[in-house]
This record gives sequence, C-alpha cells and structure tokens, in this order.
Amino acid sequence: MLRENSRLYYVENSPVISDFEFDALMRELEDLEKEWPEFVVADSPTRKVGSDISKGFVQRPHRYPMLSLGNTYSISEIEDFAVRAEKALDGVAFTYCCELKFDGTAICLNYRGGRLYQALTRGDGVQGDDVTENVRRIANIPERLKGSFPDDFEIRGEILMPYDAFEALNAEREEQEEAPFANPRNAASGSLKLVDPAEVAHRGLWCTLYHVPADSVAFDSHWDALDAARSWGLPISDERRICRDIGEIKEYIDYWDVQRKFLPFATDGIVIKINELACQRALGYTAKSPRWAVAFKFKAEQACTPLREISYQVGRTGAVTPVANLDPVQLSGTVVRRATLNNADQMALLDIRVGDWVYVEKGGEIIPKITGVDKSRRLPDARRPVFPSVCPDCGTPLSREADEARWFCPNQDGCPMQIKGRMLHFVGRKAMNILGCGEAVVEQLFAKGFAKSAADLYDLDKYRLLCLDGWKEKSAQNFLDSLASSRSVPFERVLFALGIRYVGETTAKALARHFEDIDSLAGASVEQLMEVGDVGDVIAGSVYEYLHSPAHLQEISRLKEKGLQFRIAGSGQSLSDALAGRTVVISGNFSISREKMKDLIAAHGGKAASSVSPRTSFLLAGTKPGPEKLRKCEQLGIPVMSEEAFMKLLPGADGKEIVEELSLF
Ligand code: IVH
Repeated sequence: MLRENSRLYYVENSPVISDFEFDALMRELEDLEKEWPEFVVADSPTRKVGSDISKGFVQRPHRYPMLSLGNTYSISEIEDFAVRAEKALDGVAFTYCCELKFDGTAICLNYRGGRLYQALTRGDGVQGDDVTENVRRIANIPERLKGSFPDDFEIRGEILMPYDAFEALNAEREEQEEAPFANPRNAASGSLKLVDPAEVAHRGLWCTLYHVPADSVAFDSHWDALDAARSWGLPISDERRICRDIGEIKEYIDYWDVQRKFLPFATDGIVIKINELACQRALGYTAKSPRWAVAFKFKAEQACTPLREISYQVGRTGAVTPVANLDPVQLSGTVVRRATLNNADQMALLDIRVGDWVYVEKGGEIIPKITGVDKSRRLPDARRPVFPSVCPDCGTPLSREADEARWFCPNQDGCPMQIKGRMLHFVGRKAMNILGCGEAVVEQLFAKGFAKSAADLYDLDKYRLLCLDGWKEKSAQNFLDSLASSRSVPFERVLFALGIRYVGETTAKALARHFEDIDSLAGASVEQLMEVGDVGDVIAGSVYEYLHSPAHLQEISRLKEKGLQFRIAGSGQSLSDALAGRTVVISGNFSISREKMKDLIAAHGGKAASSVSPRTSFLLAGTKPGPEKLRKCEQLGIPVMSEEAFMKLLPGADGKEIVEELSLF
C-alpha cells in the first residue's frame, strides 16, 4: 500500500491519500520493523526515498545522494532531536538554522564555470531525471552567476508553483475538462516533467534553493553557504532564522504556522538544521536522511462535516464527476459546501457512504476535496453510494475506456448537459469570447429551443432574444454585436472553441499552424496528425474521430457559412519554397527558439514534424538533440543536419540549393 501510494505521489502526481495518512502509514511500518527486525526487507519503503523517475527523460547519477528528511508532526519529537544532537556533539557549541519547508519538487542544480550545467530531479535519490532544458525556462534560476563563485558546485532546492499560477493552470485545465492538479506541488512536478521546454516557460514555476552539499563548497556554516549563494545571484529564501535553543525553534514554528497562510506559495512545515557544517559532518546520515536535520510538518487544515448527498456532474466531453454536497463548514477562511470526489475509483478507495462524517481539505489549500471518512461516526443507516450506470442527465448507459478513471456519457450529440457545456465552452473567453453569454444565458437559450448548437447562436435575432426573461434592447444588441465580431476570431481559437476532446489551446494552435485550414485538417490521417508537435495517438485519434462525424462536419459547414475563420490568417509569411515537400524533425536547442525555427521551416515551404518516421526528410539537430531521435535516424538512414548547415541551405545564405545539399547525406 505504501509502495502504491508512493508511486501515485511521486510518479503520477495524483496522490489519493493525504500526506498525513501517508506519513502515519510510514510511521506504522517503521514501528513494526523496530519490533520485528527479522522481517525488514532490503527494499522496504522506510529505507528508500520515493522515486520520481519518469519515462522520457535521461537519468543521470547524483554526485551526492539526494536524501529525504526525517519528519514529525509533534513538537516533543523536535525536542528529542535537539537532545540527541546535543548528546552526540558532546559539548561542542552549535546553533540551528530554521527554514520553511517548501512544498514543491526537489531539484539539484550544477553550475560549472558560472553557468548552469545540469539540473536533475531527485529521482530515486541515486540518479535523477535530467530536466536541464526545462529548468532553463524557470524565470528566477540564473543561467549565469555573478561575483566570485566556485568553478564547479552543486546546490539543491525546490521548484514551486505559486498559488496564482496554480489557480490559473487549474482553471484552464478544468475549462478543457482535463483533470486539475490536486495541489501546487503536483502541478510543479508535473510541469517540470513536460516534454516541451517552451511550455514549461508558461507554467510560472519558481525556485528556491536551500542546501549546498557540505563537501561541494568549503564554508563554516550552512547559513554562510546560503548567503554566498545569494551573492552569486541564486534564489535563497529570506525567511530563514538562526535559533539558539528549542524555545526559539518553537517561536519560529508558531510564527510560521500562522504567517505561512499569507505566503504566495505552499509550505508544509519547517526544517530545522544544525547550522555548523563541522557538526553536520560529525552527525552524518542514516540510509535515508541526514541526522543533522529534521522537518516539523504542519497538519493541513481540515474540517469534518456530514456528507448529505453525492451528485454527478456531466461535463461537455461527457465525463461524469461525483461531487460531495456537504453540511456547510468553515475551512481556511471560506465556507465549503461542495467538494470533489474525483471519480468512481476514488469513491471506492475512500469507502464512502452518504451520511458519513467526511474530512475535507483544500488541496494545496485551494480546491476542497474529500480526503477521508471518520468511520467511527458511521451510522447504521449510512447509504453506500452507487455510481450511476446511466447518464444522470439523459439516461444513456455510461462507458469507460480501459485506462480511464472516469466514466463517460457517450451520447455526445443528444445529452443536454454536454450540449450546454459545449456551447458554454464555445462562447468562453479563450474561445469565441462572446460577451454577455454565461451559464444562465446558455440555459435560457437551450430551454426555449433557440440554440442547441454553436451554429444556432448565429441564427439568433433581436426579436427572439427580447422574448427571454430579463433581456433588454441594449443587452440583446451587445450580444449580437459580440457574435458579429467573433467572425474575425482566428482559426486556432475557432478550432479550440469546437471543443474537440483533448484539444486545448496549445494543441489547437499547433494543429491550425500545421494544417492551415479545416479541410486539410479533416483530410489528415491519424499518422499525419501525429506529425504535429505534442500530438500523440490519443489526441490524434480524438481529432480524427471528431472530424469524421457527419454531424460535426455539418456543424462546421454551418459555422463556415456564418463567416467564422476556418483558415489560418496570412501571417505565416512565405519566404521561399526551398523546403517544399520536405518534412523536417527538429530536436535540441537552436540559436532561435524552437517555435521560431518551426516558423522558419514553414516560411520556406517545409513541414515541421515532432517524431522521426520513414517520411522524415531530415533531422535538424541543435545542441543536445534527443538521443532517441538520433538513434531512430540512424536506424532508418535519415540524414541529420546541424543548424549551421541548415541555415546555409536557405536562399539568401550562400545560394546553395537545398536539393543539392540534401543529396550529400
Ligand atoms: S534540506 C539532505 N530544506 O523536503 C536533505 N529540504 O521531505 C536536505 N524541502 O527532500 C534537504 N524545504 O525536497 C531542505 N528548507 C528545506 C526544504 C527541504 C523543502 C524538501 C526537500 C526534502 C524534502 C523532505
């Protein structure tokens, strides 16, 4: 159970139990192992740090193992830690450095010659994922250091997602019916592992550094090492304090238990470190954590309240989400009435009953979720919920794909909740941005039978709008004006507005840019769709299916007739046809951004694709190209070209003809 939860936490970024429950399970296992040492297995979770290693990244060894911290929720155990340290240091004077425990994902940076050389995740503690290119996109991590820094050193810290970036990201994901991240920590580690570094740049990640491995740089104290790192331009927290005794440590804890609620990022406790590096060396390490530091964890704010009912919401893609309706309860300053239960699996895991007293937490202190059930308060008449087998809105039997946690209503074209959800998505700010058209208006238009699809909106006139409750001349005119001006919304947003499953803003943009108009997009095979950066088989399958449904094609042709944009605007300047008919895969970093490089290829008549296939004309390799892509090129005999060579091929460079040059490979 601990192993599975460890995987859900570190690899999937979607834990199903709270940190407190996880820590309690770990503690139980530690106690059992103490009592029965003969049963301790070598790979026990008590002896290993959780692993975040994921596919798709190169793993590299850590110079010094990346360990975890012993943690506790009890002040008396912090007192025990202080007593143990005093005893072990046998009269040597020392101080404590108290710091915030930042709730993100651990990172290890290596600077060489004053430049960021490598960034590794914790991984399994021995080797981590190389996320250097992604880390370069994090705004407060300097590429170059200033002052007099050591030539080659490591510094460790945490990558965080501040609350505002987290909220914006989740709002976007919910709008696109993607599962939101449970908390900023999961969002940070998920974002750090994105395959496209350009996308990482948009996630608003942030870094704070808190540990220079003792052998890495010669300083007397941890405090001095961090001060020096700050002078080199590295991001170091201002919230650390030197404490002389347990009394001062407690003051620090009490202060931050309250003040942390006003910080712009998540913290889950404080870390107490012995400050003097000689003392740290004397104390050393256990297999899993240093003996010179300990974490005191704050309990996530929780409330316990009766579960009145579970309702089931159907989203625009047909996904059915169970929602807990609660007796209103105060939590971190707001009244919580509803909380998500995510999906049927989560309900089963919680073994929840209607009438139970349930624990509500704000995931990362933002989104309320049910984290547990107080079974001791369960009444005999508590009712086991039955996840519906048919759509709560239209009665169609629900279905679920093999690897999906969620159930779906397959009645895409007839389910009122889905139709209304799609219309709402269509008029949304990031889609067609129709003003004055929120949930209530969509509901009114649908209920009166005035609009049952996006195209129907463009048939509306003032007379019909004025029949609706609460509509006045002015509001009707504004609404119609907004519809009229939506005719100039660019193709990529129209494509996003259609609400094709898995096609978010970024994918819509990439598809629009690649295929340029709806007819080419509709004519593309699944394989051709997969040539677009970041489009895998799931997205490609979904787009293909959507554009092969007669009902969708009819809706698109109606929207076309209404004058909506279904062709990319003439922004993609054409410079030459030097690359006409060529499919170019790019990999690595270039002197210009990857996006600009793709534009350049397109401007010369070529197509940029993301994966190497027999149809690839050549691989354009920048610095640090993907080893997998290189290997595949070698296997398929596909030429690999440097940026320099590529630039020479384009007209206006040194006049060489592309065809001539390519045949050299
Ligand atoms: S020191 C040898 N200081 O918490 C371990 N860790 O639960 C050195 N963390 O692995 C770590 N804030 O990812 C340290 N101020 C802080 C921290 C901190 C957050 C993380 C770190 C660590 C984990 C342990």
